[in-house]
Amino acid sequence: MQEKKKIAFYAVLSSGHVNFCASIASSLLNNYSDKLEVYFFTNFSWAEKLAKIDSRYKFEIYEYETKEQENVFGELAKKIEPLLTLSSEKRLKEMFKLIISSFDFFSFVDEKVSSLIKKLKPDYLLCDLMSHLPSMVESKIPYSFIVSANPLVIDIEDLPYFGLDYGVDEKDKIKTGRLELKESIDNVRKNFEKIFINRNVTFDKKHPINVPRSDYLSFYCYPKELDYFDEKIKNKYNLLQVDSPIAESRIPMPYKLNDEFAKLPGKIIYVSLGSLFSCYDTKLQKLVDRLAKLPYKYIISKGPNGDKIKFPDNRFIGENYVNQFSVLQVADMMIAHGGNNTFTECFYFGVPAIIFPVMGDQLNNAKRIEETGYGYRMDLMNYTQEELKEKIEKLLLDETLIEKTKKVGERIRKEKSLDKAVKIFYESIKNL
Ligand SMILES: *[C@@H]1O[C@H](CO)[C@@H](O)[C@H](O)[C@H]1NC(C)=O
Ligand SMILES: *[C@@H]1O[C@H](CO)[C@@H](O)[C@H](O)[C@H]1NC(C)=O
Ligand SMILES: *[C@@H]1O[C@H](CO)[C@@H](O)[C@H](O)[C@H]1NC(C)=O
Ligand SMILES: *[C@@H]1O[C@H](CO)[C@@H](O)[C@H](O)[C@H]1NC(C)=O
Repeated sequence: MQEKKKIAFYAVLSSGHVNFCASIASSLLNNYSDKLEVYFFTNFSWAEKLAKIDSRYKFEIYEYETKEQENVFGELAKKIEPLLTLSSEKRLKEMFKLIISSFDFFSFVDEKVSSLIKKLKPDYLLCDLMSHLPSMVESKIPYSFIVSANPLVIDIEDLPYFGLDYGVDEKDKIKTGRLELKESIDNVRKNFEKIFINRNVTFDKKHPINVPRSDYLSFYCYPKELDYFDEKIKNKYNLLQVDSPIAESRIPMPYKLNDEFAKLPGKIIYVSLGSLFSCYDTKLQKLVDRLAKLPYKYIISKGPNGDKIKFPDNRFIGENYVNQFSVLQVADMMIAHGGNNTFTECFYFGVPAIIFPVMGDQLNNAKRIEETGYGYRMDLMNYTQEELKEKIEKLLLDETLIEKTKKVGERIRKEKSLDKAVKIFYESIKNL
């Protein structure tokens, strides 16, 4: 009997990334469990979470060595908060600095993964990372990427750079923005090169080191109706488009509304600032207080500091963590930060959204939803009661927009692009 191929997932350990990887992994197993097995490189707490999603996953475990390493992502969110009033160019420059200051952490993880790769000897690596790293290259194992963030991170010329909130038609701004960012981007690249030098691994420079591109097929996640890429770009850069990070088998029952709440009049708005940024509790409280002045009902994902959030009246329900897939099935619209997962998840369920972007690709998502006419963006640091009222009313009353968004959801659920992409991917690697 032929041995099963080992496909190993190497992802940033934050829910946006891991969720999409898990969906791809499960789809691979649903279709080819007789031909392959899937592994994840994670720490123990993520392995526990993943095992609950799919008991067929296997794990190669590494652990952090300090408390600081455990808190890297939370600390990043805190450090980003004061940057929110800056222009998107300045914000991105600061963000690059923050990311570079975490390179010791990423390099530490990569060394751990490197030894796990040597031990496991996988046949293929699927990496949800923003760049090439030594562990991927030194092993000589074929690898490609999973892009769970906005696909602009693949950095296609003439399109907006990720993190800059330009429209696709603003060609002049796109050009000048790239020029303005050049020095900062070069600096990021140099710092990635340093990681390779420190590890004595040579990078062949066929692809830019700091861009997730490969000669093999990579996945990205964005609904077709909002996609930036045409067939030509997808072919040139070896990309497989997937509409949504959601695996059908993981969709739970609709959120159960208590009787009192269900009986109240008004449409239902779901509010979440995402797994990282709902820690901005004062901003969330301010939003809640403003929403209280409008005639709707709200389900709030309160986030890690949720105990500090006070609900003004019985039109508000929610917990620190709500199951988003459940809630999206009962919500008429969503107010979100526009991180990669929430953004694509709204479309799966056909729920229109207002996006309050915080950082990175969320700014692109917010711009994109507005320029394609599926929703609105607002500025978390600078919005008025009037603007909030007006945009919510538009989303809840604009029949054309509501219908259009519903249709996207229906198409996504019918077409099952994830399974299709996984099959193309498997065909492309099965003989490697
Ligand atoms: C994607 O979204 C998740 C959840 O909001 C977030 O943790 C993650 O950092 C995002 N990824 C990128 C690359 O922006
Ligand atoms: C596992 O990794 C996540 C993401 O970096 C981190 O938040 C968590 O604290 C880690 N768990 C342990 C036990 O280190
Ligand atoms: C670096 O790699 C080269 C070639 O693989 C090897 O000859 C050299 O000894 C290595 N240097 C160190 C410091 O490991
Ligand atoms: C806040 O928004 C208003 C209206 O869009 C704009 O005129 C003003 O310049 C903004 N203020 C800041 C500080 O960004």
